[in-house]
Amino acid sequence: MVKVIKTVQDMQKEADRIRQSGKTIGFVPTMGYLHEGHLSLIRLARQRADVVVVSIYVNPTQFGPNEDLDQYPRDFRHDEALLEQEKVDIVFYPSDKEMYPEGDAGFVEVKGLTESLCGASRPGHFRGVTTICTKLFHAVKPHFAVFGQKDAQQAAVIKRLVKDLHFDLDVVVGPIVREADGLAMSSRNTYLSSDERRDALSLDQVLKMAEEMVNEGERNPAVLYKAMHKLIAAKPHLKIDYISIVDPDTLEDLDVVENRALIALAVFAGKTRLIDNVIVEV
Ligand code: PAJ
Repeated sequence: MVKVIKTVQDMQKEADRIRQSGKTIGFVPTMGYLHEGHLSLIRLARQRADVVVVSIYVNPTQFGPNEDLDQYPRDFRHDEALLEQEKVDIVFYPSDKEMYPEGDAGFVEVKGLTESLCGASRPGHFRGVTTICTKLFHAVKPHFAVFGQKDAQQAAVIKRLVKDLHFDLDVVVGPIVREADGLAMSSRNTYLSSDERRDALSLDQVLKMAEEMVNEGERNPAVLYKAMHKLIAAKPHLKIDYISIVDPDTLEDLDVVENRALIALAVFAGKTRLIDNVIVEV
């Protein structure tokens, strides 16, 4: 049986007990409505840790005022059944009041690499993410936490948070899990109409095309950008937010593709914002 813990204090006590018994804690933070992408991270944690903790919490501070906080899909019973199947030990499932009690004024911010890509079009988003991850790390006290490459900027920001603020835990990053047709799995895919979903398949296609161009010798980010832009712009249901070719750690724009490059994009399919990326190695 997966144990459901709802308060920070109970979670901390449980984490202390586990640590005192010499066991390791692997942690997978999520906002629920779990899919195979989340489950792949849970399996990674299961391989390496004695005790696996998954959190389910739709964090209001990482949503902008005109974003989808109220519509964000939720189904705790179904999530709990999936966690049971994956032999997860503990689900941390706190309320808003528990995570942000009345009068709460603390926050944590990573500057610089939060300001480009998704940070540019979602001001305050990463401050919300780093604040909730700090609170969750203090509640769960994990030896390592697992994040998905799907949210490449989030993974880079969390690595920097952990490094700069000396959190005593490792950050593990798991690969992107896709649907059979190539669409990167996301809880937000449920919002897509069939037309939007069909056009959205081009995201994976343009990333594969860019990767092939690099493999065939293209090193100029402007040429890659142009080719990707052209294909996505031709889709009637898509609107490009950004296409960026950056250093995977600093997220700074590259003048030339060398070593490792992160090719990342965000696109609106109707009202739904989709992100996807690939890391290419030269
Ligand atoms: P959420 O969107 O629920 O994602 C939880 C974790 O699953 C993140 O690390 C994300 O990168 C990973 N993930 C999502 N889709 C994936 C896919 N197709 N393949 C592999 N991994 C995937 O990201 C968040 O929640 C929140 O920002 C959170 C970190 C929980 C803080 O609130």
